Order: sequence, then C-alpha cells, then structure tokens
Amino acid sequence: MSLIENNPYRHEFPVLGQLINGKKVVYLDSGATTLKPQEVINEITRYYQLETSNVHRGLYWLSENATTKFEKTRDKVAALINASDRKEIIFTKGTTDAVNLVAQSYVRSFLKKGDVILLSQLEHHSNIVPWQLAAEQIGATIKVIPINEAGEILLTEYKNLLALGDVKFVSVNHISNALGTINPIREMAQLAHAHGALIFVDGAQGIAHEKVNVQNLDCDFYAFSGHKMFGPTGVGVLYGKMDLLNKMPPYQGGGDMIDVVTFEKTTYNDLPHKFEAGTPAIAEVIALGSAVDFINRIGFENIHKIETELLEYATNKLLSIPGLRIYGTAKNKTSVISFGFDGIHPHDIATLIDKEGISIRTGHHCAQPLMKFLNVPATCRASLSIYNNKEDIDLLYKALIKVKSFFE
Ligand code: ALA
Repeated sequence: MSLIENNPYRHEFPVLGQLINGKKVVYLDSGATTLKPQEVINEITRYYQLETSNVHRGLYWLSENATTKFEKTRDKVAALINASDRKEIIFTKGTTDAVNLVAQSYVRSFLKKGDVILLSQLEHHSNIVPWQLAAEQIGATIKVIPINEAGEILLTEYKNLLALGDVKFVSVNHISNALGTINPIREMAQLAHAHGALIFVDGAQGIAHEKVNVQNLDCDFYAFSGHKMFGPTGVGVLYGKMDLLNKMPPYQGGGDMIDVVTFEKTTYNDLPHKFEAGTPAIAEVIALGSAVDFINRIGFENIHKIETELLEYATNKLLSIPGLRIYGTAKNKTSVISFGFDGIHPHDIATLIDKEGISIRTGHHCAQPLMKFLNVPATCRASLSIYNNKEDIDLLYKALIKVKSFFE
C-alpha cells in the first residue's frame, strides 16, 4: 500500500488536524522546522505543569527527576548517532550555537595565521559566518569547494584544494537545506584526515532524514537542532570526538561548567558540562528525548520509504507544469524541492499559494553564495517530511497551476 496515500503518522501531528482560514493545512516547510508529534508536546507540558525544577543543582525529588530525564536524553542522543561515549554529546541552543562553539573554541585555539578552512558552495550562512569570524580573528583563510550544476560537491576539486597543504579544517553540511543534496561525508572525512585536516558536519538537515552514525562517518564534529527532528526549538547538539573536546577551552563561562572558582583562577568541569554554562533549556532537552523516541519508533526504513515516495511523486508532478524549473538535481538527494518559474518572483508564488493554505519557504534560504551560483535571487522550496501525503502534493500542484494562469 502506498504510504503517501494513507500516511500512518499524520494523525500524530496536531497542527495538521486543524483548518486555517477554512483551509486544510498543507505544511511543506519542514526544512525550516518540523512539526511536533503529540508525545513531544506532552513532554514539554509535563515538565512545566508537574516537574519544573533546575537540573544538576538540587538534592530533592523534583530536581533529581529533572536531572535524570535531562541526562537520559544525552544517552538517547548518543545511541541515536552511535557516539562512542555519552560525554561526547554537548547540549547547545541549536546548530548555529554548535558551529560558533567550535569556531571560537577549536579554530581560534588550534588554527593559526595562513591556515585554510574549507567550506562548500552549498553552505547555509550559519556554516559560513562563524568560521569567517574566527578566521578574521586569527588570520586564517576560507576557501570554497565548488559544486556542479546539479548541486553536487566536486570531489576532484575538493582533493585539489586539500592537496595545497594548508587546509586544517573542513566544514560542510550533511544535506543542503536549499537543494536537498546529500553530501558524501564519509569519503570527505577520509580525504580530510588523509591530509591532516579535521571535518565538522552541519547536520541540521541531515538528522531527520538519514541514519547518522558518527563513528562510521568518522567526522570529528557533527551538529544538529532539536526543532528540525520533531523536537523543540532552543536546543541542539554538538557531537565531538572526546580527545578534541577534552583539549578545547570552554566557549562560555558560567554556572555548571566550573570545578573550583577563585578570583585568581578557575578550573573547569569535566565533559560534557565544561561546554554547558548556565541553566540549560531543560524542558526542551527532555522533550528532545521524546523526539528521539519518536524517530526510533518510526525507524529510518519507514522514514526513507515515505520520503522517497513523496520526492518522486512531487518531482514528477511539479515537472509536469510547463515552465517550472527545479534547482538541485543531485543523484543523492533528500525530500527537498527548490523550484521557480521564469518571470514570476518566488515571493509572489509563496504569497499566492498561502491563500490556498500551503506553506512553503521562499527566499535565499540563508544561502546567498549558493543563490549567486544558481544565478537567482531566491527560489521556492517545498521540503517534505513523514507526515506529508499525496494530497498535499496535489494541492501544491493545483495552486501552482493557478499562480501560473494568474500571471499569463
Ligand atoms: N535553515 C532553515 C531553513 O533552511 C531555517 O529553512
């Protein structure tokens, strides 16, 4: 039976059970943030309604309960991505926070003037600007790995850049937020290591689509956000190899990250707390644990089945509209479709189809260098997830036909 005709998970997402302005909600912006299943919402409510207290600080039941649940999420995340030790899991505010942490702690401490940081043409601004800030501070240089017209990283060019000899650090996304390209991380990590460089993976778009195994990928760092994997906003994860995290200085100072404080000198807490200054996003971390449970319950086999079916159906349907162009045609891509029509501004498309109840993202997708490469100011993006169904795509198709005739 087609999983996209009879989607078995849709009913678990309350946002989809309502009408907005009398219209069915057609949510096609999961790349921006995924919807939340009821069990994640319940967990957040439970914390605020019945279980509020701080973590790692109280010798009373409520605090111990919150600490246990908070730390349980660390175990669940470590298992989800196959980290070799739970201390390699650092809770952050999100992917951006994790990139800034590594840029300011690792890159600023261990790279020097003249060293090269490699990024790809596909990157989101959050995987560009933090490295630029650190590079400016230490006199390092940023170089860019080119891509082809399909939106795939050119591995030969990557090898050539690595062969120049000054590359100390590589940072690439696992999956492009704007095009959906899935990058060959394992191969890129092997190549980086063979040339003495480390590799950081921005997994913001990867974590909900691919089974991530950090030991198998052999990446040095992997970062992601809770809100793009059916969890809450305000929480993310930085995975780092233990020896690297151990030698990195703290990124922020505050409570919980210290061992002994005097006005003369402070010593720091062990991992993971060394990088978790201040009261964390407690409810969000606990609910992230529920999001991991949710993903495990569905399983990546089912996630892939639904998303592959959705991508194929949507790609064929959209390409049947005369004049519609799809950006990003990588052989290995996830359920993201960037598109546009010549002569119709993407913002006009998004505004008109919103009236039909359809939510897509339009703009530069925080990837201006990529838009420059594509030679467009913006694209429309439909990013699909496990709760979407065939009817969502049919409604998008109908709405786009209407937009087209409006402009003819
Ligand atoms: N990075 C998110 C997106 O691609 C916000 O939409």
